[in-house]
Amino acid sequence: MKRQQFLQQCGFTCLGILGLGALAESCTTSRHLQMPINGHNQLQVPLSAFIAEKKDSTQYKRYLVVSNERLNYPIVIYRESAADYTALLLRCSHQYNELNVAGALLTCPAHGSEFNTKGEVVQGPADAPLRVFPVKVEEKSLLIDLA
Ligand code: FES
Repeated sequence: MKRQQFLQQCGFTCLGILGLGALAESCTTSRHLQMPINGHNQLQVPLSAFIAEKKDSTQYKRYLVVSNERLNYPIVIYRESAADYTALLLRCSHQYNELNVAGALLTCPAHGSEFNTKGEVVQGPADAPLRVFPVKVEEKSLLIDLA
């Protein structure tokens, strides 16, 4: 095989892998939304970010994954109702690996720990809950207290 053929073949293979990876990611995880941190060390998330696009009625996303460049880990916010939200740091309490969000289950790819939407351990080896942030609903935003 000539060098040019080899490079072309590698390029197509890489594009194929990247394409499959993007497809797989879109099926299993949600995108991280970048959100600002205000002067009170609160992550500000507009409530409108939970609105799912539907023609006939307003639907709400069950959860959002948000991040900010100042945070070492993303945060998942579960919406229970218009006034009830839970914000959890996506850092495994076992050895601090970043967690994956699989709907109502947070899973650790390192050693298999699992957590529920309240941050409680469902399966070890982790034996401590996740960090939970206080959340306040204020007008059109959620304020997640990072202190
Ligand atoms: S770091 Fe998550 S289970 Fe070990």
